[in-house]
Amino acid sequence: MVPPDTLLPRLVAIVGERHVLTDPDVRAGYETDWTRRYQGSTPAVVRPASTPEVAAVIELCRELGAAIVPQGGNTGLVGGGVPRNRELVLSLRRLDTISDLDATSGEVTAGAGVTLSALQEAALAHGWNFGVDLASRDSATIGGMVATNAGGIRVLRYGGMRHQLLGIEAILSSGAIVRRLPGLLKDNSGYDLTQLLAGSEGTLAVITAVRLKLIPQQPQRAVALLAVDDIAAALRVVSAVRRALSSLEAAEVFFPEGLELVCRHAGLAPPFSAGHPCYLLLECAGQADESANLADVLASATGIRDSAMAADRPGRERLWAYRERHTEAISAEGIPHKLDVTLPMARLAEFESRVRGAIAAVEPSARPVLFGHAGDGNLHVNILGLDPGDERPDDAVLRLVAGLGGSISAEHGIGIAKMPWLHLTRSAADREAMRAIKSALDPSGILNPGVVIPSG
Ligand code: MLT
Ligand code: ZN
Repeated sequence: MVPPDTLLPRLVAIVGERHVLTDPDVRAGYETDWTRRYQGSTPAVVRPASTPEVAAVIELCRELGAAIVPQGGNTGLVGGGVPRNRELVLSLRRLDTISDLDATSGEVTAGAGVTLSALQEAALAHGWNFGVDLASRDSATIGGMVATNAGGIRVLRYGGMRHQLLGIEAILSSGAIVRRLPGLLKDNSGYDLTQLLAGSEGTLAVITAVRLKLIPQQPQRAVALLAVDDIAAALRVVSAVRRALSSLEAAEVFFPEGLELVCRHAGLAPPFSAGHPCYLLLECAGQADESANLADVLASATGIRDSAMAADRPGRERLWAYRERHTEAISAEGIPHKLDVTLPMARLAEFESRVRGAIAAVEPSARPVLFGHAGDGNLHVNILGLDPGDERPDDAVLRLVAGLGGSISAEHGIGIAKMPWLHLTRSAADREAMRAIKSALDPSGILNPGVVIPSG
């Protein structure tokens, strides 16, 4: 490790004394991630205000051999944004400028530190919207969301973060600036660095800004919360609505164990007078109210036991709360092991029917809580009641996923949490290519070492 006496004065010379944070109480918020499961320590948090300052910090770190953990809103769930071995934390939150919003073409440039909700507000003010939405919108930053290729609740209609990208500005480990922000819809001029950096989790370069495409506003929204027989019924309903209505924007699933936690921790009354085996939340969005069309499709679907619909904002928010408040309710109950997996749609019901048994077989006292994005095959398997270091249930779940042809990470990334299982779903050739890319772009290994693939 580089002695702080050598590193810190030179950081102060770049960003100013106020933006090199060394006070333990201030650092604490950067040293633990949102889940509280991943913690570390850092000699300092450096907060540059501009792209040249980020470049100068990285150039200095390369010169001194000081490792860096880039961090945005610190809403990651896989331990990839906390310092694990006394790395310097490079906070991008001050890069919070929204610029060049082109209301004609529907494009905008966002600094890495812009929060998702600030971007959404800016887009809405100009008659547009942004394609990605997720519950941590007030804290999650665009740079972190690109670095982790965040997904969220609208992937089935608009794709994840990588699908919104038109260009990127990033700092390589040498301190050189890669700037590709012209916003060209077509650009086949060589390797696509923008897409390479999306999902690279801060291991290949530090993202400072991105050019994003916007989506047309869909002012009319209809939400249906359905109680259904099981996840197979939920998937049949999703398929029927998808085929009938191009306005389907979200299809989210949850189960009684999660609903009970949400109602208890958020103080909500249950949505229906009786309990049911599975719940499906659908949202359609368009220029006109889709409520009647949605109700028509649902009327001919099978497996629906009860339903509630809302088109007005308070009513929609009331129904969404049962799904969106899962993450906080689970964390209020304890520190979960969070697994975030995708299955081929045809195997999703089988996975759901087997996963609780697979967990119980290795740890009978574990409490699984499942929810997720039924429209894209992504289930979040949260496991409560485990010791932080007991990874037997994680192993059982991820092996089940791999055996069914799924992925061990759908949208949260690999971080440090999933690294031991990467080999289950990425071949030796895949991992060799990933290592080659890492050592080409970060030969001295200073960028988020030990994340995604082992360092060294
Ligand atoms: C969600 O879908 O709410 C997020 O992925 C967060 C989580 O998995 O807890
Ligand atoms: Zn999710």
